[in-house]
Formats: sequence, structure tokens, C-alpha cells
Amino acid sequence: MKICVLPGDGIGPEIVAQALRVLDKVGDKFGRGFETTEALIGGCAIDAEGVPLPADTVAKCRKADAVLLGAVGGPQWDTIDPAIRPEKGLLGIRKELGLFANLRPARLFKELADACYLRPDIVARGLDVMVVRELTGGIYFGEPRYDGEKDGERFGFNTMAYFEHEIRRIAKVAFEAARKRSGRVCSVDKANVLDVSRVWREIVIDEHKNYQDIELSHLYVDNAAMQLVRDPSQFDVVVTGNLFGDILSDEAAAITGSIGMLPSASLGAGNPGLFEPIHGSAPDIAGKDLANPLATILSVSMMLRHAFDMGEEADCIERAVEKTLEQGYRTGDIVQEGGKAVGCTAMADA
Ligand code: NAI
Ligand code: MG
Repeated sequence: MKICVLPGDGIGPEIVAQALRVLDKVGDKFGRGFETTEALIGGCAIDAEGVPLPADTVAKCRKADAVLLGAVGGPQWDTIDPAIRPEKGLLGIRKELGLFANLRPARLFKELADACYLRPDIVARGLDVMVVRELTGGIYFGEPRYDGEKDGERFGFNTMAYFEHEIRRIAKVAFEAARKRSGRVCSVDKANVLDVSRVWREIVIDEHKNYQDIELSHLYVDNAAMQLVRDPSQFDVVVTGNLFGDILSDEAAAITGSIGMLPSASLGAGNPGLFEPIHGSAPDIAGKDLANPLATILSVSMMLRHAFDMGEEADCIERAVEKTLEQGYRTGDIVQEGGKAVGCTAMADA
């Protein structure tokens, strides 16, 4: 299995180095061979090559079976020409690889329940939701769009549009993901108001015919947002469009309360998937061996599960993370008051 590694900026290189040690260990344990190659993205690529996404990086990613990314950006590039900002590297590689599905699991490890914003009795029911967000269509990309004037006042609009094939392929990703989890999918739309949502719902229902083993339900997005904080345990996989998914995935992440714990996967068709922590480059703690490597380690777990179909290996990493937390290891971002924090390397060691 070939992995293109893009450490990026800030804490990126530190957390990626630790995650690769874990991958190595998994390789040894299960007799799997992983071949890694590194490339530049973000600020470090701007410094070295003048652009946030060099052609060589794209080529290396395309040749790989999966891409593992740290994070990009930092204050030293904040004043740079917006056309070549570090974040452009990230948007660029997502586009180059046609990554239309963004999978963001929000899981609260029971040892970290104190960090959760929800009431303890709700937390006790469990918080383990996977938001599957459509990433390359919908209102963020729909045409026409307008920012101007009409009838003598400021006026603007965007278009929420989906083709059947776009809905079908994201529904497929959600049903497949559910098969590897509890077998439940909730599709979120606004079909009581939006025409595009009625198309969405119709196609999701139609695609579900190929996944009769999966339990499918539907919610309107306003209700879904409420239910997610009222009782997240009712959800497993949530599939939705770009805008609703942006909001719901942040909501789901926020209620777990720990940005340093959350992995993500972005998948395309026929191209390597991209696996990365949801947090940024944390310039405030970069280079100090303080970062929490668990989001990146869990991103490796997602890579094994979704890119290589190595469920057992993926489970093994998740169990290792659980055990490590059980044993009381905490980095600074998740340590409780009065507790003692370990560094990035020590956390990966554990
Ligand atoms: P951030 O996620 O980098 O940091 C927010 C806060 O969380 C900071 O206090 C940071 O120390 C902490 N934090 C983040 N990850 C952590 C970890 N693994 N362990 C311990 N603490 C952690 O977001 P911020 O500060 O808004 O952005 C910093 C830079 O990162 C900016 O240049 C931004 O553009 C970029 N960024 C990059 C992303 C990416 O590469 N996917 C996503 C978000 C921001
Ligand atoms: Mg967002």
C-alpha cells in the first residue's frame, strides 16, 4: 500500500511523524507493508516552491493509494497574496482528487466525558456519530450566483443544485460506511421547503434499494440540528449536502469538546482518499512536542478502514487509543484540571 504523506505546517510534521510510527507498528503486527513518500503542501510549499500545491505533490498523491495530511497554515503566511495562501493547497488537492465525500466521525471516548458540553445522562447514552457530507456540489458551487444590486438595493443569491449522480454517489458512500458501523443512516434535507431536497430524498430512497440491510431514516435539517444536541445517541451515519453537512459536522465535533481527537476522511471515486485531523496547524504549540497526535492517529485508522479495507487493523488502532486514555494519558488539550499532561511523542508511545 502506497501512502503519500503531506506533513504541512505548524504541528503537522510532529503529529504525522507520530501517526506514522503507529502505522509502522500496525504493519509489523499484521504483516502489512506500507510504503510512504513525502511531499510539500501549504506554507512549507510556498517557501520552497512559491505555490501552496506544487505539481509534484499532485503527481505523488495521484500515484498513491491514500494520502495522509497533517495541517497547513500559520501566521507567517497570513499577509501573503490570497491567491496562493496555504489553505489553497488544501482546497486544491481536494479538487484535484475529486474528493466529493467528507466523512467526519464525532466520537466521545467515555474517559473524556468530562470535556463534553452535554448533560452527563445524555453523554452516558453514547456519542458516536459519523457525518457524511457532500463536498463538491450544492450551494457552495451552484450556478448562477450573484453579488450585486437589483431594484436600487444590494442583492445577492446562490443556487443549491444537485444532480442525481451526485446524490447517488454520496448516498452510496454513506450506506457503505454504515455497513462498517451500526447499519443505520439518517438522510438530512429540507424537503418540506426546497425542491432540490425533494430530488435528494427521492434519489437517496432509490439508492437505498441496493442497501436493504441498512436502516434508512430522514430528518429535516432544523430538526436534525436540534436532535443532535438533544440526544445524539439516536444517530449513527448522517448523510447530507454540502451546506447542511458543514454546519452539522461542526456541531457534532463541538459537542465532543476536543478538537485534538477528531479525524476525517475525504473520498473520491477512483482516486486516493485523503485522511487528516480536523484541527489546524496550531502555531501556538508548534515545535514543542505538545500537540495531541490522536486525531491524526485516528485518521490513520480511517485510512486503513476506508482506503485499504483493513477493518481489523483499524479497530486495533481505535482500541489502542481507548486503552491509552483509560490508562490516564492526556495531552494538554484534553487534560483535566490538576491532571498531568504528556507530550506528543509520549502519547504516541503509549
Ligand atoms: P487550530 O485548529 O490550528 O487551533 C485551534 C486551537 O486548538 C489552538 O489553541 C491549538 O493549539 C489547539 N489545537 C489544535 N490542534 C491541536 C492538537 N492536535 N493538540 C492540541 N491542541 C490543538 O485552528 P486556528 O488556530 O484557527 O488556525 C491555525 C492555523 O491553522 C491557521 O493558519 C489556519 O488557517 C490553519 N488551519 C488549517 C486547517 C487544516 O489544515 N485542515 C484547518 C483549520 C485551520
Ligand atoms: Mg466548517
